[in-house]
Amino acid sequence: MTIFESNNTNSDIPKYLQLAEAIRNTIRNGKLLAKDNLPSVKSISQDMHINRHTVMKAFAELIAEGWIESKQRVGYTVVANLPIEQSQSSSNVTTRQRSFDFRLVRNGIKLTDYPAEQFTYNFSGGQPDLSLFPFNEFKRHMSAVLARPQTSQLSYGESAGTPELIEQIKIYLRKSRAITNREVVVTNGSQEAMYILAQLLLKPGDKVAVEGINYPPAMSIFKNAGAELVCIQQDEQGLLPEDLAVKISQGNIRLIYLTPLHQYPTAVTLSVSRRMKIYQLACQHKIPIIEDDYDHEFHYRCQPLPPMASEDPQQLVIYMSTFSKIMFPGARIGLVAVNKKLAKAITEYRLLICHKSNVLMQSALAKWMQDGGFERHLRRITRTNLHRRDHAISLLHSYGCFEFEIPDGGMALWVKLKQVNLKQNTVTDSKISASQLSEQAKKCNIRIQHESQYQLIAENNQDRYIRIGYAGMHEDKFAKGIELLFGIIQSQ
Ligand SMILES: Cc1ncc(COP(=O)(O)O)c(C=O)c1O
Repeated sequence: MTIFESNNTNSDIPKYLQLAEAIRNTIRNGKLLAKDNLPSVKSISQDMHINRHTVMKAFAELIAEGWIESKQRVGYTVVANLPIEQSQSSSNVTTRQRSFDFRLVRNGIKLTDYPAEQFTYNFSGGQPDLSLFPFNEFKRHMSAVLARPQTSQLSYGESAGTPELIEQIKIYLRKSRAITNREVVVTNGSQEAMYILAQLLLKPGDKVAVEGINYPPAMSIFKNAGAELVCIQQDEQGLLPEDLAVKISQGNIRLIYLTPLHQYPTAVTLSVSRRMKIYQLACQHKIPIIEDDYDHEFHYRCQPLPPMASEDPQQLVIYMSTFSKIMFPGARIGLVAVNKKLAKAITEYRLLICHKSNVLMQSALAKWMQDGGFERHLRRITRTNLHRRDHAISLLHSYGCFEFEIPDGGMALWVKLKQVNLKQNTVTDSKISASQLSEQAKKCNIRIQHESQYQLIAENNQDRYIRIGYAGMHEDKFAKGIELLFGIIQSQ
């Protein structure tokens, strides 16, 4: 009777390979030890009712792999130096098969068990509406890139991004944001840019000045680099320069992170005078500023304020932006516009991480921009987002239980929860907290983000605010989702 252990019952695999696998298992499990003789070809063939050639073929395979050897007058034996111990009997198999427990010295951002796009009503703040993207139009540019690939670009090298795209982005930044005289590096989304900058500019123990309510992925990056977050006070007009001055005087602030056009998550626009004060402080104390201009295009009340980077004689503002809101996050196109020295450092650091950009996507985007399709799409979605914002504002006002300031732009509203008492015709604080609402909303297939997810100072957390993104959904769907949310709030 054969002793070989087969796990494989797959008849698509040739017999000789199944037998080789069975012999390997028997050796791995310690039933055949180093130097042990294998049963003869004849006995295996008789026991297992297989052709002798099949057995010979299996042995030849195992010899080639280094499991067994053939010795004159002895026959086939397990090779002498196989590091399998006698004590490894089958009772130990379960211990050996248990998944290895890696020592993790760092961690990233927790995966969610229910991704945003799986919700029927996804109120995530920065979500563009993918159904509005002109895939067919873009496909033409992608096809053109594939039809005439620039083979030199498809190889390694040029880690700053595809030259044609860099050129188009420079033109776009000059025309739409008055940003000139800077080098552009294209990154896999602005998240990668932020990560590289943190690695390049921060040491463990350094401090980063941030608003106390903020964009969690950026905060995770700074902490991951070993930096300490120093929360600067903010009010309804954004960050308070006076508090920044105090915190700077306490020492060791090496970086300031701002989302000045639409503060994340409140969407407040930082006023010109505050920007100037912050810039003066940064110059005085030689602290670089990251200006994360993630949704510049969506400003409705007036022309968007020019970025801080457009009036930056010292070039200490690190300007970054993204195509995730204009196109779709999966495009993974972000950019940094900085001085030559920093651009070189970022480009070189990119070589450490990913060698190279996605040449096809970047080349297609460059063609789309060159052709004017990008600008046309931009005009369309800006109009749509403005329309959706106006719709969201009047709809939310009509319910009476959503209190908010109307921001000058962005893709979301920062909303305080209230409760309407219809009998007494009064409005009071809501009985349900923002985090409870978010939890209960999940049951109705609604994703809504809440204050606790953004608050860095636990004692400031009122657990009263939610962030309602209006750009990602058609008005009808938005209205249905809000009706359901209202129902949850009022049912308390
Ligand atoms: C504040 C902020 N910065 C940057 C980004 C964009 O990140 P990425 O370009 O990596 O998609 C977002 C997207 O949600 C954001 O909200």
